[in-house]
Amino acid sequence: MKKLIILLMVVMPVMAMAEGHGHAALDTVDVDLGDKASLQNGARIFVNYCVSCHSAAYMRYNRMGRDLGIPDKLIKKDMLFAGDKVGDPMKAVMPSDDAKKWFGTAPPDLSLEARLRGPDWIYTYLRSFYRDPKAPSGWNNTLFENVAMPHVLYEWQGTQEVEYKQDEHGNKIVEGFKLVKPGTMDPAEYDKNMRDLVNFMVYMGEPAKLVRYKIGAWVLAFLIVLFIVSYLLKKEYWKDVH
Ligand code: HEC
Repeated sequence: MKKLIILLMVVMPVMAMAEGHGHAALDTVDVDLGDKASLQNGARIFVNYCVSCHSAAYMRYNRMGRDLGIPDKLIKKDMLFAGDKVGDPMKAVMPSDDAKKWFGTAPPDLSLEARLRGPDWIYTYLRSFYRDPKAPSGWNNTLFENVAMPHVLYEWQGTQEVEYKQDEHGNKIVEGFKLVKPGTMDPAEYDKNMRDLVNFMVYMGEPAKLVRYKIGAWVLAFLIVLFIVSYLLKKEYWKDVH
């Protein structure tokens, strides 16, 4: 029994990781919860471009504002939809039933998405949409085949097409993307904004982490002071012994 439990503890996270990440190679994203400007930009993108379809029911606007240093006034002006209050959780503008009718799948709640899929997965996903005339929305995604989500940021990124090559078994695999129509952002700028968006989603997955960082800094400062004091005390005591 014990062995079985241990085996499950080892195997299950590996299975979960395999399920979440698939076989595609992921681009790595540099997450930095200490970067306030990045988190604020990510919040702005998330609220303006994602909350139309996705909820983030565990995140309240004013909690986000407090954590990221965005004043309530600015939240009201730039981020709230008609009728919402700063104390409300982020609720999708589009009713879930309608979304299901239009897309075939309801857009999932994204509160914990960064913990579910991992930051690299989301970053890669947001950079992997390509034009596919056969898809109902006209868009597809190399990381998430036949995805129901349209490429909502195509005006920024532009339109990419996918380029394939054959591997040694004759399977078609993705080689890369070709930008057939540039967007309003150049690729580096688009990547930077996607990094900010993912950074924000990581914060959203565990808002308490930011608070822990702050406490952590105080604990370290305290330990340093304690170390200096003890060192001086030790010198003082040993002076008489020598
Ligand atoms: C027009 C509606 C719409 C908008 C706007 C939208 N999405 Fe989606 N999104 C969807 C739908 C529908 C799905 C479900 C896809 C599926 O299961 O095929 C989805 C799926 C996802 C997934 C994958 C979820 C999973 O793990 O299965 C992520 C991540 C995601 N969206 C992120 C975003 C982000 C970030 C934004 C803002 C930039 C955004 N979405 C904007 C409709 C939307």
